[in-house]
Amino acid sequence: MRAFPHLPLALSVLAFQACGTSATKDPAAAAAPDTIQPPSLVMDPHTFARPQEAVIDHLDLDIAVDMAAQRITGTATYSLKRNGGDSVVFDTDGLQIDKVTLGDGSEAPYALGDSTFMGRPLRVALPPGADRVTIAYRTGAQARALQWLSPAQTTDKRHPFLFTQGEAILTRSWIPIQDSPGIRLTYNAQVHVPAELMAVMSATNPQARSTDGRYSFRMDRPIPAYLIALAVGDIAFKPTGTRTGVYAERSVVDTAAWELADTEKMVEAAEALYGPYRWGRYDVIILPASFPFGGMENPCLTFATPTILAGDRSLTALIAHELAHSWSGNLVTNATWDDFWLNEGFTVYFEHRITERLYGKDYNAMTSLLGFQDLQATIAEIDSGKHPEDTALKLHLAGRDPDDGMTDVAYEKGYALLRLIESKVGREKFDAFLRGYFDRFAFQGMTTEKFEAYLRQQLLDPAHVQVDLAAWIEKPGLPADVIVPVSDRFTKVEAEIKRWQAGTPAAQLATQGWTTFEWMHFLRHLPEGLTTAQMDELDRSFHFMRSGNSEILAAWLEQCIRNDYSKSYEKLDEFLTHVGRRKFLIPLYQELLATEKGRAIAQNIYKAARPNYHSVSVRTIDDMLGWQASSEMSF
Ligand code: BES
Ligand code: ZN
Repeated sequence: MRAFPHLPLALSVLAFQACGTSATKDPAAAAAPDTIQPPSLVMDPHTFARPQEAVIDHLDLDIAVDMAAQRITGTATYSLKRNGGDSVVFDTDGLQIDKVTLGDGSEAPYALGDSTFMGRPLRVALPPGADRVTIAYRTGAQARALQWLSPAQTTDKRHPFLFTQGEAILTRSWIPIQDSPGIRLTYNAQVHVPAELMAVMSATNPQARSTDGRYSFRMDRPIPAYLIALAVGDIAFKPTGTRTGVYAERSVVDTAAWELADTEKMVEAAEALYGPYRWGRYDVIILPASFPFGGMENPCLTFATPTILAGDRSLTALIAHELAHSWSGNLVTNATWDDFWLNEGFTVYFEHRITERLYGKDYNAMTSLLGFQDLQATIAEIDSGKHPEDTALKLHLAGRDPDDGMTDVAYEKGYALLRLIESKVGREKFDAFLRGYFDRFAFQGMTTEKFEAYLRQQLLDPAHVQVDLAAWIEKPGLPADVIVPVSDRFTKVEAEIKRWQAGTPAAQLATQGWTTFEWMHFLRHLPEGLTTAQMDELDRSFHFMRSGNSEILAAWLEQCIRNDYSKSYEKLDEFLTHVGRRKFLIPLYQELLATEKGRAIAQNIYKAARPNYHSVSVRTIDDMLGWQASSEMSF
């Protein structure tokens, strides 16, 4: 585990800004006028910025991306709102600062503070009235947001690739910025890349190559720094609808467009639920397999793992999830990482509402139950670790890397709370409430406390409904009133497992028509201590090892490790070397670590695989395998 026991905490205070010009009026607000005032002071322990003195509200970025040197060089020009004080403070992490100038061209004195897990503060001295600052900088060799892929690490193997990952506090490693989710800014960017490559961002995007490698971007709605994102590679575009499309490496783009054919319908379903999509286009980029997440909700352009390309459109709920963040997260944003569940719990709820409309209630019951199983496992694991308090929805992450507290709890316990409220007030009222909430707080930060007050005032009190919010939000574990999802289809899966255990050959089990989720449930609930002959029989009957479905393959490989099924080890090696999605890596490495033999295999595989992973995954797996010392040197 990483511990930073004696760090001085730079607690900062966020000034709440007015809605951006793109915020629309609130047509669906609940009838009663709310009296919730924006809190004037919110502490974000994960930024050095002091927005109460000077806060950024617009960025003009002008950068060149050197794929060979693996470096970004350029300038970041900010317009500032000042509220007193004689300086402005930015977050940086591993950046080299070359020069700082003011709007009038004069040089400004600046100083970099000490380095911590949050990076280093950059303080720029400001004369009275100065409201524009230009920082000339270059990225460091180990910028944590960036993954530079060699041609061999891409799918097409012909050109290098770069992508960024900003959430939670990584944007500061490629742009000097006030890196707090409670500080919003608009941005324009000029990005120069090698002429044979294309650049895309979380903004208005090109659909074709420029001739000279120069691209311009605009994001005219105010967003927090963690949503600024860039990808550069030999990518092509294909539409999936009038407002939607996919980017991917050339050989992937057709497959991706087929797989994501429902994207436009998802946008329509989302709008029918909670109001207009406010970001113009909704596109997705399928990244190389090292992308450390399933998806990342970068505005206008979701970044996604290729492991959702199952060939049967069965894993596209992930797109519904990232799209839902266009409301929960990108419009109404957790004010600090302690309020992360406001982003993810709401998004899981919203995701389920979209997929229920598109794919029905059975689908929903299955995915809800899988999520609930994940939640139970996560709670058990957190309970046995150093931070059992992390199973409360409201987190207390000061002094820790926020990434360490971002677990299934925010997603699935958050979802469970919203389901409980929905069941108590009824769907109609809950939908009206949510729609009003997204409109009322669009383009603002939200704290757990403010949400709680708004919820009581607008929904619970008028409906005379009681929910023990304190138990859900502040206390660890799962409250007794949690609604456990039920899936009839999973009950049938369990019956088939029993039949197999009782002697029915695997090939004769009633598995016809099973979806990915039924197979996942099946694999998760196999009995313990399977023999090689039994594993052989399962694989002969169901061809798990050849599955092109990453969820099924990963669940199978977990069973293979558990049962020391050595025929799988080549496949396991290939999977762990190729795929960098942390959700798959963690359980597989964890399972390997359970035995001495497995531990040796894990170390061996990781030695070769580590250079293929993004820093986010490296950091996690380093911790698990005891590579901390070297990780602190390199990241
Ligand atoms: N915003 C998250 C990804 C994230 C979380 C990045 C925490 C950095 C820190 C994204 O929306 C997400 O939740 N992705 C999930 C997908 C899912 C729940 C369908 C993932 O990556 O697995
Ligand atoms: Zn999410």
